[in-house]
Amino acid sequence: MHARTAAIVLAAGQGTRMRSDLPKVLHPCAGEPLIVRAVRWALADDCAQVAVVVPAEGRRIRDILAATFPEAPLVFVVQDPPRGTGDAARVGLAALDVEADQVLILCGDVPLLQPHTRAELVAAKKSLPLALLTAHADDPSGYGRVIRDAERPVRIVEHRDADAATLAVQEINAGVYLCDRPLLESTLAGLNADNAQGELYLTDIVSAAQGNAAAVTVAMEEVQGVNTRADLARAEAVLRRRTVEAHMLAGVTFEDPTSAWVDDDVRLAPDVFIGVGVQLRGAVQVKRGACIQGPAVVLDTTLEAGARVLPFSHLEGAQVGEGATVGPFARLRPGTVLEAQAKVGNFVETKKAHLGPGVKASHLSYLGDTTIGAEANIGAGTITCNYDGQNKSKTTVGAGVFVGSNSTLVAPVDIGARAYIAAGSTINRPVPADALAFGRTRQVTREGYATRLREQQADRKKERK
Ligand code: UD1
Ligand code: CA
Repeated sequence: MHARTAAIVLAAGQGTRMRSDLPKVLHPCAGEPLIVRAVRWALADDCAQVAVVVPAEGRRIRDILAATFPEAPLVFVVQDPPRGTGDAARVGLAALDVEADQVLILCGDVPLLQPHTRAELVAAKKSLPLALLTAHADDPSGYGRVIRDAERPVRIVEHRDADAATLAVQEINAGVYLCDRPLLESTLAGLNADNAQGELYLTDIVSAAQGNAAAVTVAMEEVQGVNTRADLARAEAVLRRRTVEAHMLAGVTFEDPTSAWVDDDVRLAPDVFIGVGVQLRGAVQVKRGACIQGPAVVLDTTLEAGARVLPFSHLEGAQVGEGATVGPFARLRPGTVLEAQAKVGNFVETKKAHLGPGVKASHLSYLGDTTIGAEANIGAGTITCNYDGQNKSKTTVGAGVFVGSNSTLVAPVDIGARAYIAAGSTINRPVPADALAFGRTRQVTREGYATRLREQQADRKKERK
């Protein structure tokens, strides 16, 4: 028999210590806003509804959560002014419009809670009216202290209300509770602001449980809240470490795990190699045996098996085929597709460029709005002129084409299969298959003229003296 659960996420506090125009809970932590992580933890199979308590100017919080969890039963409610966590819970409770026997309450600024901890909290509560998360802190400053009577928690004392003996207690209240709805209702109805901060404290619920509360004690790291940007960086480091460790257990090599940044949505196959200083952001997928040497930034990109990215490359919205090579110093922009064994070398930029199997663009090129057939060779310094100041146009290069160095391909233009473009050409008319095209001025050579030129220069130099 399952009790029906609803949740309240408290996010109406000011977050002033972030010193930011962005609400605290919207600050991204390892690629995702804090509040998204808290709401995801609250939303589990057994959760009928989540009330998110937001500040008066909480529109963005609302928009981001609604966009992230489009199907989820979320309700938003404004708490204005913020008069303490107890008041916030009261506002949240009033907004819940589902039948629920018990209520999970947590803060929006706690991003490190693990899914299994939620299950432990549910298991610990059983038939008791309340279960809460606690942790042992080396430095408990600022937190509410957990006061136990024999075994069970009997009350929470806020740091600012604590005497010397209480301040010495190292078990802290994490601010995460699972409680029976009647207990929550009666507690919230009887709150007063008779404390150092003049606020309504949700923590009063622990004394209201009269010794019938269970504590689940977890690692401090898991319940650490984010109040400052330093806290944010620490939380992000924990999330990054967890992610990287999970990938390592699944068979991925990290040359330097502490320097890698791997977002949650990233998928890495076994035997992938990630070098020093690699950032994998957004929807990145790297398949078996592929290798990214660092430093590199890879966003929303797929690397097929055995693909290689060499250092100092930046890839965004690209697909890199099996065994293809990118870099060093390459930039792949959105819409780039490299088929198997293609090669994009140093100082090459691509955008909406489809390079067929085995195509080589090894040095110093810009390839935009272009399709290049299999095995074509794009010489150093080749530029597609895809923009006339108003419109973008396409360049098509057939299979097996050889484009000589320093060629300018003025789009729209088609180059037929196996054609040969002489180095230094400007090509602005179609080149048929198997043709040789020159688009450059003819070379003029005068025997002995270099000697004569130097003599003239020497004479002029003498005259000047
Ligand atoms: C709270 C607990 C403390 C616990 C700590 C854990 C109380 C009185 N104290 O203290 O025992 O150790 O969390 O992190 O509950 N909020 C609102 N409206 C308000 C006030 C706060 O929505 O009027 C939200 C904040 O946005 C935040 C959360 O509640 O997400 C916690 O508020 P905060 O002021 O940070 O509480 P702490 O002082 O940290
Ligand atoms: Ca806090």
